[in-house]
Amino acid sequence: MIADIVVDLQYGDCAKGKVTHHLLKNSKYTHVLRYNGGCNAGHTIFHEGKKFITHHIPAGVFFGVKSIIGPGCVLDPREFMKEISELKAGGINTEGKVFIAENTHVITNAHKEEDGKDQKIGTTKRGNGPAYRDKYARTGIRSENIPELKPYLIDLYKEFYEAGNAVILCEGAQGFGLDIDWGDYPYVTSSHCTVGGAIQNGIPPKAVRNVWGVAKIYETYVGGKKFETENPIFQKIREIGEEYGATTGRPRQCNWLNWNLLEKAVRINGVTNVVLNKMDVLQKVNMWRVLKDGKEIEFSSEEKMKDFLTEKLGTLGIESKNIYFSAHKDKI
Ligand code: IMP
Ligand code: MG
Repeated sequence: MIADIVVDLQYGDCAKGKVTHHLLKNSKYTHVLRYNGGCNAGHTIFHEGKKFITHHIPAGVFFGVKSIIGPGCVLDPREFMKEISELKAGGINTEGKVFIAENTHVITNAHKEEDGKDQKIGTTKRGNGPAYRDKYARTGIRSENIPELKPYLIDLYKEFYEAGNAVILCEGAQGFGLDIDWGDYPYVTSSHCTVGGAIQNGIPPKAVRNVWGVAKIYETYVGGKKFETENPIFQKIREIGEEYGATTGRPRQCNWLNWNLLEKAVRINGVTNVVLNKMDVLQKVNMWRVLKDGKEIEFSSEEKMKDFLTEKLGTLGIESKNIYFSAHKDKI
């Protein structure tokens, strides 16, 4: 088995979908696996000129690659069926391509109702937290107990080990700053948004080949805590970068790239390749800053900031040929 993992190094919304899409176009995979989260995630994908927003179903489906929702996820059956219909309506063939691990837990209406009352964390109100709580309290319901899901269910062990030579692309949701253990608790999501979360879905560590860490050249966060600092530039970044939630439409708070968070996420995830997205947005505001040790460092040009990050990532063992500064919506 070979596995590549795509992991978000910040607070979600760093365009992991674009990186997954790129990898699927350029390498051969037998499976794509969503490894954490529920329909709190919103992946915006531009495929053959059409815009799709998926919440549950991994991007492999756009390429006819078997796409699996793994047991590290929680699944809302109604949302899932809706997504299948939307993909079909958009001309995407889902037949025999979309699967759910039978041991994946489900999000119920009661979970959504409870999450809908959240006042503190600023959740997406999709029932994520209560579904994971019930899973760990051993009172949850698994996909194998939901009749409508029957046509999609698989035994992930058989799927990965009986067909031989699986080459799996693991696609994460949310990000390091929202991880249940490593994020800013309690302002976190309820799943593991790290490489650790991916391998827990039946991927042995020795199978891992590349870990693609995805970040933006600035940061955004949606949720209950104050994140944005006083600077009118962030309103500009929000508008130019279209920083509004794909799932809830909420404005995302913006701030400069935090080097300390990036360093921690790169180390803990064992990142081999880094993609820094949305260079085009900072080019438009033409202000180049990084937060390090609680202070803002200002650079006189884009090149100077790139040099700083390339040098710093180099100290973490990432060669410049494996660092991508991306200024495009649909390529890295
Ligand atoms: P929950 O995952 O809905 O419980 O929300 C917990 C926190 O994670 C909130 O701050 C959400 O805004 C944030 N969150 C959850 N999913 C995403 C995502 O896909 N992108 C960005 N933030 C997210
Ligand atoms: Mg998103």
